[in-house]
Amino acid sequence: MACHLSSTCLVFSILLLLLLSFSSLPCQAQLSSNFYDDTCPNALSTIRSAIRKAVSRERRMAASLIRLHFHDCFVQGCDGSILLDDTPSMTGEKFARNNNQSVRGFQVIDDAKAQVESICPGIVSCADIVAVAARDASVAVGGPSWRVKLGRRDSTSASRSLANANLPSFTDSLESLISLFDRKGLSARDMVVLSGSHTIGQARCLTFRGRIYNNASDIDAGFASTRRRKCPANNGDGNLAPLDLVTPNSFDNNYFKNLIQKKGLLQSDQVLFRGGSTDRIVNDYSRSSSVFSSDFASAMVKMGDIDPLTGSQGEIRRLCNVLR
Ligand code: HEM
Ligand SMILES: *[C@@H]1O[C@H](CO)[C@@H](O)[C@H](O)[C@H]1NC(C)=O
Ligand SMILES: *[C@@H]1O[C@H](CO)[C@@H](O)[C@H](O)[C@H]1NC(C)=O
Repeated sequence: MACHLSSTCLVFSILLLLLLSFSSLPCQAQLSSNFYDDTCPNALSTIRSAIRKAVSRERRMAASLIRLHFHDCFVQGCDGSILLDDTPSMTGEKFARNNNQSVRGFQVIDDAKAQVESICPGIVSCADIVAVAARDASVAVGGPSWRVKLGRRDSTSASRSLANANLPSFTDSLESLISLFDRKGLSARDMVVLSGSHTIGQARCLTFRGRIYNNASDIDAGFASTRRRKCPANNGDGNLAPLDLVTPNSFDNNYFKNLIQKKGLLQSDQVLFRGGSTDRIVNDYSRSSSVFSSDFASAMVKMGDIDPLTGSQGEIRRLCNVLR
C-alpha cells in the first residue's frame, strides 16, 4: 500500500484488515427452532401428524425414522443426502454397506414432504423434515422430546463411499465406535446414549448371527439359544429380531439393563458393556431412565447440528429423492 504513517492511512488500513478478516470467516448461519415460524407456521404440525399416522400404521417406523436421521447426519452432515436416489452420474447412499436393505422410512418422509409442499412450496428442506420426524417418532413411542433446531438446507450431492466410511457397523470394536463418533464431534457418552435408540426397532439375522453362534463369554447362553431359533446358521438373513428383547416397542432404558445381563443383540451393542471404558456409562443409564431420557434428547440435538448446510448453501428440494 502506497501510503505513509498518516492517521487516515492507519484508519484505512485497519478497516481493510477488519473487512478481510470478516469476509474470510466461514458462513456460519445458525440453526434455530423458530426458523419456519414466519415462512411456514404450520410446517411442524403437518409433519407431526404425518409421523403420528405412519407410526400408528406400523410402530417400527418410529425406530426406522430415528435411524434415518442418524444415517443422514453421519454422511456429509444432516443434509438429506441419504434421501437421494442413485443417478447415472451419482452413486448415492441408499445402497451403502450399512444402509442397503436396511435403512427405511423414505416413503414416510416423501409423504410428509408432499404435505408440507402443498401448504408452503419450496420452503421446508428435506433435511429438516428428517430431523423433525426423528423427534416426533420418539415422542410417538413414549420417548423423550426436544426442540428441533431448523434451517438446514438440502445437499446437491450424496456419497456412497462417504457412507461406507462413516457409518458404524455391527462388528465394530468399541475403539472404532468411539472414533467414528468423535470424528462427528460426539463424545463416547453421546455414542452410548444414542445407541440407546436400540431400545426400539429390529435387526436382521445377518447382523447378529455371528454373535449368537460363537458361544462367546460375553453373551447369555439362554438368550443366544432363543435367538438361534429364528436365525439359522446358514439362511434366513432377513429374519428379524428385536434389538431390545424386553420391551421392543417402547422407548425405555431396558436396552442398558440387557447389556448388563449380556443380552445385547449386536456385537456393537455388547461392546458398550464388556469391561471397557463405557461400562460405567451403561451402568448410569440402566439405573436411571430419566438421566437416559434427558441425555438422549441433548445428544439428538447435538447430532442434528452436524455440518448443516445453511444460508444460501445447497438447495430446498421439491422431491426429497431427486435434485431440483
Ligand atoms: C453405535 C453404533 C451403531 C451401530 C453399529 C448400529 C447398528 C445397527 C444395526 C446393525 C441395526 C440393524 C440394521 C438391520 O438389521 O438392517 C440397527 C438398527 C437400529 N439403529 Fe443402530 N447402530 C448404531 C447406533 C445407532 C444410533 C446412534 C442410532 C440413533 C440415534 C441408532 C438407531 C437405530 C434404530 C432405531 C434401529 C432400528 C431400526 C429399525 O427397526 O428400522 N443406531 N443399528
Ligand atoms: C444390496 O443388497 C442386495 C441384496 O442383498 C444385493 O443384491 C446388492 O448387490 C446390494 N447392493 C450393493 C451396492 O451392495
Ligand atoms: C457352540 O455350542 C453349541 C452347543 O453347546 C455347539 O453345538 C456348537 O458347535 C458350538 N459352536 C462353536 C462355534 O463353538
